Amino acid sequence: MAEIGNNIAVAKQLLEQGALVAIPTETVYGLAGNALNESTVLEIFKVKNRPQFDPLIVHVASLESAKELVDDFPEKAKKLALQFWPGPLTLLLKKKSYIPDLATSGLDTVAIRCPDHELTLSLLQQLAFPLAAPSANPFGYISPTRPEHVNEQLGEKIKYILDGGECTVGIESTIVGFENDLPVVYRLGGLSIEKIESVVGNVRVQLNTSSNPKAPGQLKSHYAPKKKMRLGNLTELIRDYGTGRVGVLTFKTHLSQISDRNQIALSSKGNMEEAAQKLFASLRTLDKLDIHIILAEEVPDMGLGKAINDRLRRAAAD
Ligand code: TXA
Ligand code: MG
Repeated sequence: MAEIGNNIAVAKQLLEQGALVAIPTETVYGLAGNALNESTVLEIFKVKNRPQFDPLIVHVASLESAKELVDDFPEKAKKLALQFWPGPLTLLLKKKSYIPDLATSGLDTVAIRCPDHELTLSLLQQLAFPLAAPSANPFGYISPTRPEHVNEQLGEKIKYILDGGECTVGIESTIVGFENDLPVVYRLGGLSIEKIESVVGNVRVQLNTSSNPKAPGQLKSHYAPKKKMRLGNLTELIRDYGTGRVGVLTFKTHLSQISDRNQIALSSKGNMEEAAQKLFASLRTLDKLDIHIILAEEVPDMGLGKAINDRLRRAAAD
């Protein structure tokens, strides 16, 4: 198992040696390595068992460091970065050639984000290179929001997990690119469309679901538990699957016909931020129960609810 600790110097030393370290962010834990070192980047793909056509996000400490990675920082991108960094926003921008092609899967854009987590920001400030970091889970499985989640699955493959506690946002960053200067959202995430539009006006949302998508996190089946999962009207699903060996995920209600240990409400108060924060940990908890299926319902389609529903649909996809 990996060591879990909050020693930035240990993380820094390992990263400088070209090794991988799991790092906390406000969204989910990342599996980090030197983004400019090609063999380190290759190791990230291997440890995650991730196909090389799925590019990585490069993490930086500031807008200034982000500018060093690109030829041009368009005006709208700058506005968004100034407003929302550090935070759950990833920008797709034309990359400089010194960024390894492997990190961007050969694309001419690089995904950049400045994460909002004290420990990781401090680590990034002390490093002479940016950190490539996909979510620290095996490809396709539920993303980790606590250090133990990382240890459960990647603990044999890495030495150190920087412990930054539980992720506060709980859902991955929103990915925004630009086509003819117009903002396009490729992945719904921890920054709502409403907030983005309040800064740059109308955005187009283009969520690919094909097998060779622009953002492969957009693969139809992703973020998925090992147990079968069905999404829909819970009353109907329970009628079909019974009340016995089922796990149930509700938005806020408690269901009297299901045992307490087999059900989780994302937020009994109906708070969308709380629901997002609890989503992945709840799916993991349900996945470990002695049940044969997870039944879940969508949340209201507003604010972070859109991103929560996106993850629920992908988790339930075959
Ligand atoms: O919140 C987050 O974004 C977390 C934390 C660790 O920062 N990271 C994360 O990384 O979710 P990952 O690798 O699990 O998801 C990155 C997504 C993938 O869907 C990938 O296809 C997309 O970003 N992506 C990366 N570079 C891209 C590019 N140049 N063009 C289009 N999509 C890109
Ligand atoms: Mg991921």
